[in-house]
Amino acid sequence: TEQTFIAVKPDGVQRGLIGPIISRFEARGFKLAAIKLVTPTKEHLEKHYEDLSSKPFFPGLIAYMGSGPVCAMVWEGRDVVKTGRAILGATNPLASAPGTIRGDYAIDVGRNVCHGSDAVDSAKKEIALWFKPEEIQSWKSAQFDWIYEKP
Ligand code: GTP
Ligand code: MG
Repeated sequence: TEQTFIAVKPDGVQRGLIGPIISRFEARGFKLAAIKLVTPTKEHLEKHYEDLSSKPFFPGLIAYMGSGPVCAMVWEGRDVVKTGRAILGATNPLASAPGTIRGDYAIDVGRNVCHGSDAVDSAKKEIALWFKPEEIQSWKSAQFDWIYEKP
């Protein structure tokens, strides 16, 4: 099954939003495969956001993301990359629909509380960057047959 990398950014951790963010993915029916709290190094974040290195906001983004613990997670399920992005909402919270995480909990694009992989291939890269294989659990949820019509 498909996996995506979701993170609660340092502002989300500080604001007590780990629980609400996890709840939305759990309630939707996605399955948690890995989770840890980590304060990422500058080098790690420069790799994670390497596609954005030429942007004017890049130094601020790296400082923000390294300013405290991040809750790093792997979530699994059908179409979880695309649906995970929908659960997060638009990058700029002012454009995020109410009912999305950013649309409910954020205002500023530079403090948008969560991250989600934007494609299946970037999800694979990000999961490999943030997690060792042995940190990722493969398990069958007891709810599986109540969430999916067909495996
Ligand atoms: P992530 O899930 O964090 O990757 O966000 P995204 O995929 O919705 O957006 P993108 O990858 O383009 O940008 C990464 C992050 O950089 C965003 O989530 C914002 O925190 C930040 N960012 C993006 N655009 C801007 C901007 O114009 N100004 C500032 N200050 N930050 C920005
Ligand atoms: Mg992105």
